[in-house]
Amino acid sequence: MTDLDESALSVVALHQHPELMKQCCILVNEEWPRSETARMLSLQTSCDKMPTCLVLLTGDKKVIGHCKLTPIPSIKDSCFVESVVIDKALRGKRMGTFLMQASEEYCRLVLNLKTIHLSTKGQEIFYQKLGYNICEPISIYGSFPQAQNAVNNIAQINIPKLKIDDKLNTNTAPPIPPPLNIKMNVEPKKTAKTYMVKSLLL
Ligand SMILES: CC(C)(COP(=O)(O)OP(=O)(O)OC[C@H]1O[C@@H](n2cnc3c(N)ncnc32)[C@H](O)[C@@H]1OP(=O)(O)O)[C@@H](O)C(=O)NCCC(=O)NCCS
Repeated sequence: MTDLDESALSVVALHQHPELMKQCCILVNEEWPRSETARMLSLQTSCDKMPTCLVLLTGDKKVIGHCKLTPIPSIKDSCFVESVVIDKALRGKRMGTFLMQASEEYCRLVLNLKTIHLSTKGQEIFYQKLGYNICEPISIYGSFPQAQNAVNNIAQINIPKLKIDDKLNTNTAPPIPPPLNIKMNVEPKKTAKTYMVKSLLL
């Protein structure tokens, strides 16, 4: 595609245009290959309340960009933008900028959000140019990442269940549990990703 009429570009919610689902699937899978079935299932979760897939369209309704907004349970009024991708043939033509700015407007005006979070490995400059700042890692699963890592690092701890019996002599100390089965050589999970945030407040 060579002649791109920028004034004809638009960004729409994928679930409001199911006819674009297959095109979007091909675009995203070209960057992050996955089975068509799995990708379609993921795209079909798009809805008004989030997750929401937004697609960048040319005037002739060709899908040339995609991003997905997901909720962050631990951060109210925010979302996590992921799977940001522009058609390989059209990169470096400010299409990514157009998609992100339109997505930010969607977050602000349609979803009433106040911030957008994301993580990236290698596209920091692109996001910095759009006004994103580096921040502490966040978890999109609802708990703090530090707590999550602590859980991940405890490979297996077997603590025998103690029976509580009121009739037992309470002066008797409980039996000493056997040594904990902790793998000491488990490396903490390192995150190589850069987390970034942007305020949508004007
Ligand atoms: C990242 C991506 C969406 C950027 O889209 P794009 O349309 O190529 O970006 P733009 O043309 O709007 O670039 C805007 C600015 O960011 C800069 N930029 C874009 N990608 C960059 C990169 N990887 N490194 C440094 N600068 C970059 C551009 O040079 C441009 O700078 P300028 O304003 O000074 O001219 C696109 O390259 C892509 O789809 N990449 C593959 C998927 C991917 O990595 N997604 C991000 C996952 S976190």
